[in-house]
Amino acid sequence: MTSPSTSLSLVDTDPAELAVDAVVIGLHSQTVEATESVAGFAGTLLLATGAESIAAAFDGRLTETLALLGATGSPGEVVKLATLGTVSAPLVAAVGLGPEPTGAAPAPETLRRAAASAVRALAGAERVALTLPLPDDEDAPAALRAAAEGALLGAYRFAGYKTRPQPTRRPAVASVAVHVPDAADERARAEIARAGVVARAVARTRDWVNTAPNELRPPSFADSVAAAAREVGLGVEVLDEQALADGGYGGILAVGLGSAAPPRLVKLSYDPATAGSNGSAGSNGSVRRLALVGKGITFDTGGVSIKPSQGMWEMKSDMAGAAAVAATMLAVAELKPAVAVTGYLPMAENMPSATAYRPGDVVTMYNGKRVEVLNTDAEGRMVLGDAMARACEDGCDYLVETSTLTGGQVVALGKRVAGVMGSTELCRRVQQAGDAAGEPTWPMPLPDDVRKGMDSEVADISQVHASMDRAGHMLQGGVFLREFVADEVPWAHIDIAGPSYHSGEATGYWTKGGTGVPVRTLLELVDDIAAND
Ligand code: BES
Ligand code: MN
Ligand code: ZN
Repeated sequence: MTSPSTSLSLVDTDPAELAVDAVVIGLHSQTVEATESVAGFAGTLLLATGAESIAAAFDGRLTETLALLGATGSPGEVVKLATLGTVSAPLVAAVGLGPEPTGAAPAPETLRRAAASAVRALAGAERVALTLPLPDDEDAPAALRAAAEGALLGAYRFAGYKTRPQPTRRPAVASVAVHVPDAADERARAEIARAGVVARAVARTRDWVNTAPNELRPPSFADSVAAAAREVGLGVEVLDEQALADGGYGGILAVGLGSAAPPRLVKLSYDPATAGSNGSAGSNGSVRRLALVGKGITFDTGGVSIKPSQGMWEMKSDMAGAAAVAATMLAVAELKPAVAVTGYLPMAENMPSATAYRPGDVVTMYNGKRVEVLNTDAEGRMVLGDAMARACEDGCDYLVETSTLTGGQVVALGKRVAGVMGSTELCRRVQQAGDAAGEPTWPMPLPDDVRKGMDSEVADISQVHASMDRAGHMLQGGVFLREFVADEVPWAHIDIAGPSYHSGEATGYWTKGGTGVPVRTLLELVDDIAAND
């Protein structure tokens, strides 16, 4: 397993005099109409704020040189330039930021992606400084946070399984210094520290998701999570197959039946009272209790209702929700917010075999409800129903669950935007947290007719539409999960089937494979609950 080895610091000295291997500057694109006299393509480029002293060292010829090298300033583009003694660093890298926003600094997400693209393009360099156009008003902390997170996330590497080192693969950047007006500023230092914790949590999630599914089956996944959690002082409880049977966790057991590797339910707890929280309790003097639940299917073959083989390997990512919740808990243990956070990770491997559960089975869930199984590939809701009912039994003020639940999410919202269903107000807060973190979500309804379609002939509810109508597939998942939430508990279900895994080449801070969605959203939500109840 890897974690980001890249370290982060602040610097406030003249960028032209920094003893680093490369200095990154921002480059905007400009429409030609906006420029009066166009000297070649140079008129289409605009150096971003922060690049002034570097530009001065080039005697005003930096833009022109970048234009000669083919720079366009478009997002994701990185153009490198040997400085030949004009500044201390031997290399300047200009990263595209797109058009300059009028009267404002670039959006945090633009900075997050640019920092990542630059750091990825500079692999092989040891020390890199970022002099990006950070605002100096009340938006400064969010912008700094975004740039720092982007730099670390872009540097992420999965160790992988190659038996020999790859000569064409340069090592990730070892240290990144972010240029700010005052490197001693407390708020800036706090943002850098938080960015490190958050990026480590995202990397941890990516590592777990990227691990081969033969190496990460429920017992070993549970062990890996438990060991990491104990190290940071979280409360850890692991229910093995015997404890699950004794406790009546019918959904988790049913899905686990087909595999030789038995299921688990891992519970992780953070208690601000014993952890020495750095925040104060909410307005009414008591801390809020947040339950996080994540789907941990270590591999989803579909079971007896088996999936087509094309692309099935990506179902090693079907534990992305559990990985995100576990990593969020590890970050919470370090950040010590004034919120009591508990994580629940139901883990199972969905396999077809002589002992597997089957379509037609009726399963008694942890909360006593009986479910008619119609498709063993709808296994996520089976394990989640039990875990959500347990979370409500333990007691919580908010319940947020996340899962790679439906292909319908990808069809409806694509690969970037997660679907959110549940209590209106909590869904709104999840969406807001996601927007701040650069992990967009979109609210989806839970219509009565969808619930009606899931009425079972024989049991309390069918696991999917009774005649397998795929209409509103993502909503069927949400409607089903609602049955396992106690009436008074505000809840949200985040379907991350698309955004949790990136199949294409690296872009921005998304590397190939696990993305770490929705860790940053969950941590942002924890902050929101700590601040506003
Ligand atoms: N893990 C899958 C959903 C999924 C699909 C995640 C694509 C990531 C990418 C889930 O368990 C599943 O198989 N869902 C089925 C449900 C159906 C059989 C009711 C689906 O969405 O097709
Ligand atoms: Mn499935
Ligand atoms: Zn699944």
